[in-house]
Amino acid sequence: MAQIIDGKAVSAAVKAEVAEETAKLRDEKGLKVGLAVVIVGNDPASRVYVNNKKKACEAVGFQSYEYALEESTTQEQLLDLVNVLNRDDRVNGILVQLPLPKHIDEKAVINAISPDKDVDAFHPINVGKIMIGEYSFLPCTPAGVMRLIESTGTDITGKQCVVIGRSNIVGKPQAMLLLQKNGTVTICHSKTKNLKEICLGADILVVAIGRANFVTGDMIKEGAVVIDVGMNRLENGKLCGDVEFESAEKKASFITPVPGGVGPMTIAMLMKNTLTAAKQQAGIE
Ligand code: GUN
Repeated sequence: MAQIIDGKAVSAAVKAEVAEETAKLRDEKGLKVGLAVVIVGNDPASRVYVNNKKKACEAVGFQSYEYALEESTTQEQLLDLVNVLNRDDRVNGILVQLPLPKHIDEKAVINAISPDKDVDAFHPINVGKIMIGEYSFLPCTPAGVMRLIESTGTDITGKQCVVIGRSNIVGKPQAMLLLQKNGTVTICHSKTKNLKEICLGADILVVAIGRANFVTGDMIKEGAVVIDVGMNRLENGKLCGDVEFESAEKKASFITPVPGGVGPMTIAMLMKNTLTAAKQQAGIE
């Protein structure tokens, strides 16, 4: 039976580290850390995420600045706000909550955020830096996954790592981070043939495909570390991951639950990136 990886505990440890350093910066250098969060429209899931980000800012001692804009906001208005925030010295990090309403081009907005304040690490400059291993910010979810794998004591070097999912936000950067830790990495997706055989070879399996209970126990190698990035809502209202937990935990050595696994890590890593941004802007790191 697998050991459950406690994402809440690991994320609490990351946030405690950030809070300690934030207090030290304030006391020793008079530095305040600020995160601007922009939300456009009324998507209920986005509202919950933004509220959680605000709460996390308070918990670690950051200033948070929320900009809640109407659904009808034009792209030009949003770009104007991003430009104001780029120049605002109180703001060390800028996060524009996605998805944006359909009439706004997400790429144009991401490209407008100053790479120095891009705490999501979505800007092409930051994406490129990840490719060459010279990054300041790591995208929050893949960075959180790495921290969870680390918490199991697993050495990634030489291991067969399989990532299911190829999104720009999770799958692709996840593969790069595992590669940087000397994993032998395979990226699978909806068109992959022999998916089951490939998964059965995985010592470390990261699943981010966005389909409820997609990976079942018979696809998992005995003793594998299984990380479930999925967050799906079933018709009965219950949350579930991309991995069928009951059958998977019988095969894995370590497994993340949903909720309480990767989810809390994303916000903790956002706090870490915002602190990094503040230090860099102050010339400290
Ligand atoms: N929407 C869902 N996840 C994220 C995220 O990590 N960052 C942003 N900006 N929007 C999101």
